[in-house]
Amino acid sequence: MKLAVTGGAGFIGSAFVRLALAEDSSVQIVNIDKLTYAGNLENLDPVRQEPRHRFINADICDSERMQVIFAEERPDAVVHFAAESHVDRSILSPAPVFETNLRGTFTLLEAARTQRVPRFVHVSTDEVYGSINAPLEADEDFPLNPSSPYSATKAGSDLLARSYFSTYRLPVIVTRASNNYGPYQFPEKLIPLMIAHALEDRPLPVYGDGMQVRDWLYVDDHCRGIQAVLRRGREGEIYNIGGSRSLPNLAVVREILRITGKPESLIRFVEDRPGHDRRYALSSEKIHRETGWRPAVGFEQGLEQTIAWYRDNPGWVARVRSGEYSTYYSRNYENREAELRTVIDARGD
Ligand code: NAD
Ligand code: DAU
Repeated sequence: MKLAVTGGAGFIGSAFVRLALAEDSSVQIVNIDKLTYAGNLENLDPVRQEPRHRFINADICDSERMQVIFAEERPDAVVHFAAESHVDRSILSPAPVFETNLRGTFTLLEAARTQRVPRFVHVSTDEVYGSINAPLEADEDFPLNPSSPYSATKAGSDLLARSYFSTYRLPVIVTRASNNYGPYQFPEKLIPLMIAHALEDRPLPVYGDGMQVRDWLYVDDHCRGIQAVLRRGREGEIYNIGGSRSLPNLAVVREILRITGKPESLIRFVEDRPGHDRRYALSSEKIHRETGWRPAVGFEQGLEQTIAWYRDNPGWVARVRSGEYSTYYSRNYENREAELRTVIDARGD
C-alpha cells in the first residue's frame, strides 16, 4: 500500500505517518508538505532513517507539481491532512485559509481525478456542524453550519470532495473528527498552549467564560480511525470520529493545573473569540458500526502522557515558538482587545 499523505509534517499528519510506518511493514508513504509555520521536520525525526518514507516539500495549491507527483508515485490512496487549521489565525488572517483549504483541496482532487487515484480520504472536522445545543449530537446527516473562516472553508472543501464522488466517481471518503490533543501539537491550540504556560508559571488565557464545550480525542485514536476508514470505509461516505469525552474548556484547564501542580490563580479570563461556537458534540455510531473503531485512550491518561511529553521536550517548544510565533502571539494575546475590537467594531453589534 503506497499512501500520499498531505500535511504530514504537522501535528496529526506526522502522528499518522509515524504510526502507519511503525505498525504496518507493507506501507510506503510519500509525504507532501509546504512546511508552513505549523509544519516541522522535527516531528518526523522518528522516521528519518525509514526508507519507506519520502518527504516532498511542496504546496498542495501547485497543480503542476501535484499532477507530476501523483503520476510518478502512483499512490493507492491520498490521505489529505494539509490545511490552515487554526480558528484564531483564520479570524485574524483569512486569506491563507481560503487558499490552502479550498484551492489546495480542489487542486488535489483534480490531480487525483486525472491520475485515477483509487482512494481519497479527506480529513475534516466536527466544526463544520457549528455550535450544537445540548443534548443533541451531530451525526453525518446533520446540517452544516460553520461559524469561522476556518470551519467554513473546511465545510466547503468537504462539499467539493463529495461532489467529486457524485460527479466523477472519484472514490472519496470524508472524515470529521473532534478536537485532537497529544504530543507535537503546535502551542497555539488550547491544550498545548495551556500546558506550556502552566509549566512556565505564566497566566492561562481562557476565552469568555470558559464554558464552551469540546469533545477531546487523543491523536493516535484519530489516526487509527482514519486507518479503519481507509481499509473498511465505504466510498462516497462521511464518517464522524469523536472522542466521546465532552468537557468545558475551564475543566480542561483546571485538570492541566492539577496535573502540573500549579495554582488556579494562573487562570485569566480574556476577551472572547468572535463567533465562538458554544458546544461541539458528535455521534460516532457509524464508524463504530461499520469499521469496529472506538477510541482507546481515556482523557486523563492521554492528558498525563501529553503533559509528560511537553515536560520532556522544552527544546521542541522553544524552537517552534521562535520565528513568526511571536508575531501571532502578540496579536492574539498581548494586543487581543485592540485586534478583536477592529473585528467587532466593523460588525456594528
Ligand atoms: P497542523 O496545522 O498541525 O498541520 C497542518 C500541516 O499542513 C502543516 O504541516 C503545514 O505545513 C501543512 N500545510 C499547510 N498548508 C499547506 C499547503 N498549502 N501545502 C502543503 N502543506 C500545507 O494541523 P493539524 O492539527 O495536524 O490538522 C490536520 C488536519 O486535520 C486538518 O485538515 C484539520 O482541519 C483536521 N482536523 C484537525 C483537528 C485538530 O483538533 N487539530 C480536528 C479535526 C480535524
Ligand atoms: O473541533 C475540531 C477542531 O478543533 C479542529 O478542526 C481545529 O483544527 C482545531 O484547531 C480545533 O479547533 P478549536 O477552535 O476547537 O480549538 P482550539 O484549541 O483553538 O480551542 C479550543 C477551545 O479553547 C475553544 O473553545 C477556544 C478555547 N481557547 C483556545 C485557546 C487557544 C481558549 O479559551 N484560550 C486559548 O488560548
